[in-house]
Amino acid sequence: MSRDGSRRERRQTPFSAEAIDAAAREASRPAPPAGRDAVLRLVGVTMQYGEGETAVTALRGVDLDVAPGELVAVMGASGSGKSTLLSIAGGLATPTSGQVIVEGEHLASLAPQAVARLRRRSLGFVFQDFNLIPTLTAMENVTLPLELDGFSTRVARRAGSDALDAVGLGDRHGAYPDDLSGGQQQRVAIARAVVGGRRLILADEPTGALDSVTGEAVMRMIRSRIDAGAAGILVTHEARHAAWADRIVFLRDGKVVDESRRDSADVLLAGAS
Ligand SMILES: Nc1ncnc2c1ncn2[C@@H]1O[C@H](COP(=O)(O)OP(=O)(O)O)[C@@H](O)[C@H]1O
Ligand SMILES: [Mg+2]
Repeated sequence: MSRDGSRRERRQTPFSAEAIDAAAREASRPAPPAGRDAVLRLVGVTMQYGEGETAVTALRGVDLDVAPGELVAVMGASGSGKSTLLSIAGGLATPTSGQVIVEGEHLASLAPQAVARLRRRSLGFVFQDFNLIPTLTAMENVTLPLELDGFSTRVARRAGSDALDAVGLGDRHGAYPDDLSGGQQQRVAIARAVVGGRRLILADEPTGALDSVTGEAVMRMIRSRIDAGAAGILVTHEARHAAWADRIVFLRDGKVVDESRRDSADVLLAGAS
């Protein structure tokens, strides 16, 4: 069955987080062996915020590999460590212990400027609240990371134009965020996250503020970047969005408690209908 075919069925299947959780527990199996070419690799990542009595341990020994062409959904209750995991994967935060390897580079061994460069070149972030700069046009928002990275305006604009076309905003290059709908703003954010062929897409509830039709369109765009060879992590509360992933990782209290792969996700979705 084609991916699209199976997805269409999935989309119509109502299922609860509890059903997913229970079925995933049953269907869970060890993660596939670590690919040497993983775009992202987390090894024994632990994160503690603060010190002493007020310390909070947000992640406890998380191992995770994400291969090219693979989208991993991360699910879990509020406070389970999902956003912390994304920040660490993206080099926005440094773990207390453990290793973060992006495209073969150990982030801990890189100078801060080198981490920043890797982030601009290889990583695309999509957050729930878009984070567009209101005084810049759609095009300028998209090309900013490239220009910061020293690309000429001409080259940046060509890449920006391709990215905006790809998200269906070919005719809104000059629009400011305020002139765009929520869904359009989120599509600009996605264009910004993928411009220049970024290899790792990190999305934190990117559909949270959108209606279901727009959320679906956003998921389709993320998926198409993954199918083109990027790796991705998608934090989501919504099972119907997690169903676009190749693998679902469940976090509880900073630990990976379950993992289910695409075929077992099919099983659990069938079981929930
Ligand atoms: N900057 C921070 N300082 C202190 N504690 C934090 C910080 N960020 C997150 N936490 C705590 O770490 C835990 C995990 O948070 P988070 O990664 O945001 O989880 P999630 O995204 O799953 O809701 C929570 O207990 C949260 O309160
Ligand atoms: Mg969060």
